[in-house]
Amino acid sequence: MWPPYTSPERHDTQDPLVIVEAEGAWLVDADDRRYLDGISSWWTCTLGHRHPRLLAAAAAQLGRLDHVSAGAAIHPEVAQLAAELCAVAPGGLERVHFSDDGSTAVEVAVKIAFQYWQQQGRPARQRFLALSSAYHGDTLGAVSLAGAEPGGFFTVFAPLLFEVARAPTADGDGESAWDQVASAIEERLARGGDEIAGVVVEPLLQGAGGMRTYPAEVLRRIAAATRRADTLLIADEVFTGYGRTGAMWACELAGVTPDLLCTAKGFTAGMLPMAATLATARLYDGFRAGADGADRALMHGHSFSGHPLGAAVAREVLAIYRDEHIVDGVAPRTARIAAALAGIAAIPGVRRTRQLGIVGAVDLGDGGYGGATGPRFTEAARRRGLYLRPLGDTAYVCPPLNIDLPDLDTLLDGFAGAIAETVRS
Ligand SMILES: Cc1ncc(COP(=O)(O)O)c(C=O)c1O
Repeated sequence: MWPPYTSPERHDTQDPLVIVEAEGAWLVDADDRRYLDGISSWWTCTLGHRHPRLLAAAAAQLGRLDHVSAGAAIHPEVAQLAAELCAVAPGGLERVHFSDDGSTAVEVAVKIAFQYWQQQGRPARQRFLALSSAYHGDTLGAVSLAGAEPGGFFTVFAPLLFEVARAPTADGDGESAWDQVASAIEERLARGGDEIAGVVVEPLLQGAGGMRTYPAEVLRRIAAATRRADTLLIADEVFTGYGRTGAMWACELAGVTPDLLCTAKGFTAGMLPMAATLATARLYDGFRAGADGADRALMHGHSFSGHPLGAAVAREVLAIYRDEHIVDGVAPRTARIAAALAGIAAIPGVRRTRQLGIVGAVDLGDGGYGGATGPRFTEAARRRGLYLRPLGDTAYVCPPLNIDLPDLDTLLDGFAGAIAETVRS
């Protein structure tokens, strides 16, 4: 096995965590030890593990139809999913293109935006504008959007990437720092908006870039500037979507409606790899044949586009969200995380805390992703029966949205304990 983001040295020498079972918020290892999944398995398992209704939906679907490729055929599950997804999406998003994971959902958004403008007689609109400290996935288009800053994840790939207009870094989490980011974007779009194919954002919370939160007003200003420039707003809700921030979509918290929205992870609640890119009718109509009758189809597709099994599970996820009031349940959990963070902020050595919805983050040092505290924190958490994986010097919790409150308290107690141990050592 060649594991992701793990050096061979670490893989060869580290005692691996061998997980053999899971249920709800809990993972069980090969020695029968239990761990709370405090990061919902890389932010995917929003409903915990093996929700009985998802298991039943998957089994029922496999009893009917395993797969049929989506190019020339369609099946009921995926058509109904598209309708149900649009019904809960921000207004105006009326078409859904299905793909495999968060990275491909973003690639699809980029390609839709690019091809759209080429077909609209606006060929100069070729460039994307993205934020600093962004993360949009690991495929090369998504990596281009994140950029290859020195010392970042992707420096080595710089020669392979397309050029992106980049908003400046917010120096810290303060409102004035983000105010400057919004002003720079407004200025850039006013100056050369005609060449911008789309503005790509992780709304309100930049995940892998360090759990950086920013004010709703900044997102509103970015959206307004995007409208003024008549370009497209692409909301990457792969991390923030499906209730994690306290609303179904982070865009809703700012009252912003994007032209394209990317979703994955919580989309199947982590059960299967599947993703979706939602688009407005205006964009979809841009792919109809022109007056010359020339075919303008979106030139993108995957072997597993609209996979029936994924679609059946994704439909059931939406039904569970509805029936179990999953998004409403985020508020009480948010309050408990806030109380825990207040205590953690007082631990000597802790730099900063921040939170949006069910995500609570703590800086244990100033080294960012390259910071040295990460492995110590991971071990301290593991000894306390917690499965957590910090982003360098940033430790965080991001549990399933339906985690039982006593389990959440156990997680937060252990989180505080692991932080105290890490900053002491
Ligand atoms: C905001 C955002 N976009 C895209 C991705 C990529 O998703 P995936 O890992 O499913 O390709 C991630 C993954 O963490 C993400 O956080």
